[in-house]
Amino acid sequence: MKLLLKGGRIIDPAQNVDLVGDVLVQDGRIAKVGGQIDPGDAEVLEARGLVVAPGLIDLHTHLREPGLEAKEDIGSGTRAAAAGGFTTICCMPNTRPVIDNAVLVAGVTQRAGLEGAVNVRVIGALTKGQEGKELAEIGDMIAAGAVALSDDGHFVESARIFRTGLEYAGMFDGVVVSHAEDESLAGDGYMHEGAVSAALGLRGRPAVSEDIAVARDVMLAEYTGALLHIAHVSTLGAVEIIRQAKRRGVRVTAEVTPHHLTLTDEAVLGFDPAAKVHPPLRSGEHVEALLAGLKDGTLDVIATDHAPHAFEEKDVEFRYAPSGFAGLETALGVVLTELYHTGKFTLPELIDRMAAAPARVFGLEGGTLKPGAPADITLFDPNQEWRVDSSLFYTRGKCTPFAGKSLKGKAVATIVGGRVVMKNGEVRA
Ligand code: DOR
Repeated sequence: MKLLLKGGRIIDPAQNVDLVGDVLVQDGRIAKVGGQIDPGDAEVLEARGLVVAPGLIDLHTHLREPGLEAKEDIGSGTRAAAAGGFTTICCMPNTRPVIDNAVLVAGVTQRAGLEGAVNVRVIGALTKGQEGKELAEIGDMIAAGAVALSDDGHFVESARIFRTGLEYAGMFDGVVVSHAEDESLAGDGYMHEGAVSAALGLRGRPAVSEDIAVARDVMLAEYTGALLHIAHVSTLGAVEIIRQAKRRGVRVTAEVTPHHLTLTDEAVLGFDPAAKVHPPLRSGEHVEALLAGLKDGTLDVIATDHAPHAFEEKDVEFRYAPSGFAGLETALGVVLTELYHTGKFTLPELIDRMAAAPARVFGLEGGTLKPGAPADITLFDPNQEWRVDSSLFYTRGKCTPFAGKSLKGKAVATIVGGRVVMKNGEVRA
């Protein structure tokens, strides 16, 4: 089976490629890149005016399966991914039951292979039941295909447990992903602690709760020599701690979400539960620091933290609403609108943060258009204008703080293993 992408702007940061030309896909792999390629018997996909990029990879997706299918399942979540231009997503283990053993890692992987519209890789829990008390079966889960270990949704309170988790995962060169918020400081807060929380009379989650947690985990990574990845960084202090640690050679990487890069705590002013998330949306000085950190490589990756909840769960008073919202179908549009069209980032920089860097951080195949690589490709129109209408989302999580927003830039086709799984917004898988 052959597919020819004709005349697009090919951007592959992993190879420093940025040129206009054709891409030939054969038997699920990239066969040839650049120049004019004779279509022969290949199916032709017109890419003039579009960007042809390595398939976007999300290191932080909540698929909610098993057990929380009212919020999302593998079918709806992976279709949302395809619609948003993602070819691989890594799913978090805070499900019911928690994905904390090899059988569940293998089971979710197998089910995703049958029902998933895109590639799914599984992140196993660091501790049993994500309770922070006893290490999970880390070696077994890695052998079963887990790409990383995380208690995401929870901070591992015990430094001793986190240290042994790093040491155990380190034996297999496994990456430990930290949800870094000290709950003793943040636990009873609903939003960022600052002028807006004071004005609204809502208890806050102070930035220092994240700074302390990141500092501890970075120090333990330095002490053990293990691989640490910090999830959804949201504070100025955390950026600075990670920047210094990288300078010292600590094996730490980090991600930042589209919402933390583009929204502030003022989004909470109308008490809209859609703006409730952990860690919370912060004030402008933090947003500036995140943008600077993403620019200089302190923050390696843009990840969605796609965290869908059922509409009726979110449709309650702010303080009672669960935190998190859908992100897969808005991520690329938000990033292109707010980071590219404002002149802050170039397209190669953004494709690096959304495809090449995620592959590097978790050691995944893909993230490049090199001949021989899997034919996971995202075609997007950087100039297509559209309005966010969550009733059209494939995800079950219809809540988003970007609802109604006009965006510029959209995925036009998603190709997974040489198969076109989304075209013009319609998912075919
Ligand atoms: O807001 C959040 N929601 N943050 C997390 O870390 C977990 C997520 C969820 O699972 O809903």
